[in-house]
Amino acid sequence: MFKGQNALITGGSRGIGLAIASKLALNGASITLLARNEELLQQSVNQLSTDHNQSHSYRSIDLLSLIKSETDVQNLRKSITPPTILINCAGITTHSLLHQTDQQLISDTINLNLTIAIILSQLFIKDMIRQKKLNPSILNISSILSYTDHVISGTSVYAASKAGLLGFTKSLSHELRDIIRVNALLPGLVKETDMGLKVKSDLEPISLDDVANKAIDILKDKSINGQCIRID
Ligand SMILES: NC(=O)c1ccc[n+]([C@@H]2O[C@H](COP(=O)([O-])OP(=O)(O)OC[C@H]3O[C@@H](n4cnc5c(N)ncnc54)[C@H](OP(=O)(O)O)[C@@H]3O)[C@@H](O)[C@H]2O)c1
Repeated sequence: MFKGQNALITGGSRGIGLAIASKLALNGASITLLARNEELLQQSVNQLSTDHNQSHSYRSIDLLSLIKSETDVQNLRKSITPPTILINCAGITTHSLLHQTDQQLISDTINLNLTIAIILSQLFIKDMIRQKKLNPSILNISSILSYTDHVISGTSVYAASKAGLLGFTKSLSHELRDIIRVNALLPGLVKETDMGLKVKSDLEPISLDDVANKAIDILKDKSINGQCIRID
């Protein structure tokens, strides 16, 4: 289904990113994982299926470093295979009331969850346009917390960053219509990940597998563009 596709997945070393990577690999895609922990990246890449004779890779990088350095952004582009699928999944959250939240954490949360998704999309758009025949696609992992009907105290900055992703998704999908599909997935609480484990909420959790399956459905359905799809 994804044979010949190169998928770049930020935050792909564990949790939701790795679950999506595993299913894409099972369906033939070559995967590049980005995250910081090199040992974990190595382990995760080794567990991806190579049944379709594809190869996988990873790059250990603190994505926040890209905020400060245009050179690092261009070096990243040169060091990896241009993707036909970009999944912006790396994310962090806040667990403190706004007036008690450190300013550095506020900017890191907005930067990693939103600005990096924008920077990477911008970085790879031209490469993706060149591979138009392969139906390139960007999938932004947002959250149901981007909707005001789901709120958890202590996550206002996180919610703001994830809501920003929705506006970005809608607008960019219009800009790139008929060339690159741009969608967002809004998972509910996934308790099986490191982030989900730390969330204190009475929300009914959903399974990691269901979230990854939904991502695959969106990526394979060429009629879906500009959609912000919740799964909770
Ligand atoms: N779990 C949930 O309930 C839930 C619900 C809705 C949406 N989401 C969203 O889904 C995405 C994945 O969440 P998850 O639950 O799978 O979280 P997770 O298990 O904590 O995984 C986060 C991933 O992001 C990477 N990452 C964090 N900081 C980074 C940095 N500065 N540079 C590069 N990579 C970085 C982590 O690797 P390193 O630490 O090694 O860098 C890891 O691969 C996030 O965007 C999250 O907001 C999660």
